Amino acid sequence: MEIFCYVIGLVFLVVSIQCEEHLYAHGPFGKAHLAVEIPNPLNCNRTIGLFSRFIRSKLGEISELNVSARNYSNMEKIFVSWKPSTAPCKDDFIGIYFVEIPVSTGACDYVDFEFVSHDQKNSTWSMLNLRRPLEFRYYSRDDKCAGKYIFQAKSLVVQPKNVNEATQVHLALGDRNDQIYVSYVSNSSEVTPQCEYGLSSSSLSFRVNGTSITYKASDMCEGKANKTGPQTFINPGYMHTMLLQGLRPYTTYYYRVGSDEHGWSVIHQFINRPSSNDERVHLLAYGDMGVSPIQSGAKPTIDRVLGRVIADNVTAILHIGDISYARGIGALWEGFMSQIEATAARVPYMVGIGNHEYDHITGGEKDPSKAPGPGGFRPSWGNYGSDSGGECAVPVVHRFHSPSNGNGLFWYSFDIGAAHIVYFSTEHDFLPSSPQYLWLEKDLKSVDRSRTPWLIVGSHRPMYSSLEGTDIVGEHLQEYIEPLLYKYHVDLHLFAHIHSYERTCPVYQKRCVKNGVTQVLIGMGGHDLSNGKYSHADWSVYHDIDYGYTHISLTKTELSFYYHHTSDNKIVDQFKLTK
Ligand SMILES: [Fe+2]
Ligand SMILES: [Fe+2]
Repeated sequence: MEIFCYVIGLVFLVVSIQCEEHLYAHGPFGKAHLAVEIPNPLNCNRTIGLFSRFIRSKLGEISELNVSARNYSNMEKIFVSWKPSTAPCKDDFIGIYFVEIPVSTGACDYVDFEFVSHDQKNSTWSMLNLRRPLEFRYYSRDDKCAGKYIFQAKSLVVQPKNVNEATQVHLALGDRNDQIYVSYVSNSSEVTPQCEYGLSSSSLSFRVNGTSITYKASDMCEGKANKTGPQTFINPGYMHTMLLQGLRPYTTYYYRVGSDEHGWSVIHQFINRPSSNDERVHLLAYGDMGVSPIQSGAKPTIDRVLGRVIADNVTAILHIGDISYARGIGALWEGFMSQIEATAARVPYMVGIGNHEYDHITGGEKDPSKAPGPGGFRPSWGNYGSDSGGECAVPVVHRFHSPSNGNGLFWYSFDIGAAHIVYFSTEHDFLPSSPQYLWLEKDLKSVDRSRTPWLIVGSHRPMYSSLEGTDIVGEHLQEYIEPLLYKYHVDLHLFAHIHSYERTCPVYQKRCVKNGVTQVLIGMGGHDLSNGKYSHADWSVYHDIDYGYTHISLTKTELSFYYHHTSDNKIVDQFKLTK
């Protein structure tokens, strides 16, 4: 019988490893979970224990969970402590729960969890303001560490100090140089959201009102995103946005958001973009970030990015797709927006669309990009799946803003100093005569190169990567989009999706040519890294597989590009283009 149990356990372990993509996507409260860890939504209720060797004298040893605070602000820590069990099972765990989840049957319905190790008597939680009461619970199993989880103890209810706390503050560029969008999230739309701003932190003499929006599970296309629950859709609160106008170029502004009724954020600051092309500007760019600790490189990278933003007065961040990897898990959007807040409240955070924001198979009538068909662009040669967990870009378009000269966040363009920057979507039809293609050509054609001599294009899936097994879509991007980029003398094409860094020579149709486009893969922003062998293609100048970010510093006559590793902030690749 015992051998039988171990065989079953082994089978379960193998199944767990194969299901990695589905299992590791939790951790909004700062807990890292490996794929083979238990419990998880697929095996939490199992009836056969993997670790039944420990015989415990009795249950009920854990009777109380103490919390260091009962009220918290977003991202504050709470310490949970208890008197340790003399013989915990290897898969005893503490979870954080919505208070309405039943204690007896809801063990698996946590928002996040941590296994309890032998002799462990406390744990630390990084609290998100989900605008609702929560509690910690301890679950164990029977005296042979087998069977279903049994409730042991819970904490007092913990609550946000203010459900209308102004959280997730972030900026975006508007249509004009004198405009900036300021956004935040709170629990209510009953009070008009506001931004107070001015030229010094002690004199926020201007005030502007904003508008509020939200979304429901039923607003999204399919799958997990349509289901309400602690590990799927949660009420996202209200996203409030104010448009600041009449801002002076290249000027530092101070601001706070909120209202007298609901309270105000701390005072943030930003520097508005210059209006002329005479100023040197700095941009930081990457793709594929995600939320730490699930994606271990994300937080260390955004910390480096913030340091660079402050040191070099960066004008904008370019995050070209695969933003939060929430994939239908609402709490992960909250975790991501909180993770980037210190940076995105200081510099416009310009996002492009990746497969993990958009790709879906059904429910196309809810697609905010208005692409035709139930799953949008699905050519026979494509490998477009359901990578957004059913979100079909609904959360990302509610949270982020962009200029309105294209199709929302899906394709748009903007000027910064001497650069014109264009985003297009590799998740949407990019074949000649498609609306996106026509818009892209019109935009590229209309650039005044005497005003913005540098033309930079950002998209998500790579046109070039010499890592074996590279995305099939790249071949078709080379066929249809590369001639367009070449024709209009694009200087730099940035893309991501493959989680690594690679730079090409100025290239056209796989050959290094004098007037080619320098293509750079920058998918190393934080999500678990890619691996594999390189093909040693002639056009590949430099590649590596590590976490990092890129820095573009440009004037009218010179564009310098630097790739920094996150680990030590050192520059590991750089090049310069001149006019
Ligand atoms: Fe990615
Ligand atoms: Fe991707």
